[in-house]
Amino acid sequence: MRAPRLAVLASGTGTLLEAVLAHGIPVALVLADRPCRALEVGAAAGVRSELVERTEWSFGFDRAAYTERVVKALQDAEIDVVAMAGFGTIVPALPDAYPGRVLNSHPALLPAFKGWHAVRAALDAGVTETGTTIHVATAEVDDGPILAQEAVPVLPGDTEETLHERIKQVERRLYPQTIRRFLASL
Ligand code: GRF
Repeated sequence: MRAPRLAVLASGTGTLLEAVLAHGIPVALVLADRPCRALEVGAAAGVRSELVERTEWSFGFDRAAYTERVVKALQDAEIDVVAMAGFGTIVPALPDAYPGRVLNSHPALLPAFKGWHAVRAALDAGVTETGTTIHVATAEVDDGPILAQEAVPVLPGDTEETLHERIKQVERRLYPQTIRRFLASL
């Protein structure tokens, strides 16, 4: 049997993708929903990097049709495992196409602070500790079996940026480690 082929889905700066690559984990595809640095990171590393552009951001967004385009791109690249690394479009049907094979890194200690603004929500709540959770994604957003979790302190004077960066420093170690362990378990 061939080694499982991994895709990384991103929308932003792609520092988690960089960490995955730096850990020597083979990435077969980088997929983004918008032009972003993550696509440049992938291309610079010689990884097939595809923009499956989301052009509709209003209420009329056809999420099912967009998800189909993502799944098609993944299947065309013969992907077996998907790692979400800051992908900004919710694609709830993706785990149906890859049951138990979609991973996500979330910048909070789930089940606390689900959603896109998890870092701000933790700050607003005044907690002294938040963190990161690596989990298997299901149709429910920021839900599913937890593979790894690590706490990060909230420090006096933290902004969303400083706290998110402290969390990402942990994610850049924990996500690659967890992906490696997950791939080895298949
Ligand atoms: C990470 O904090 C991840 O948990 C969240 O988006 C961020 C991605 O960071 N979902 P980057 O774009 O890879 O730097």
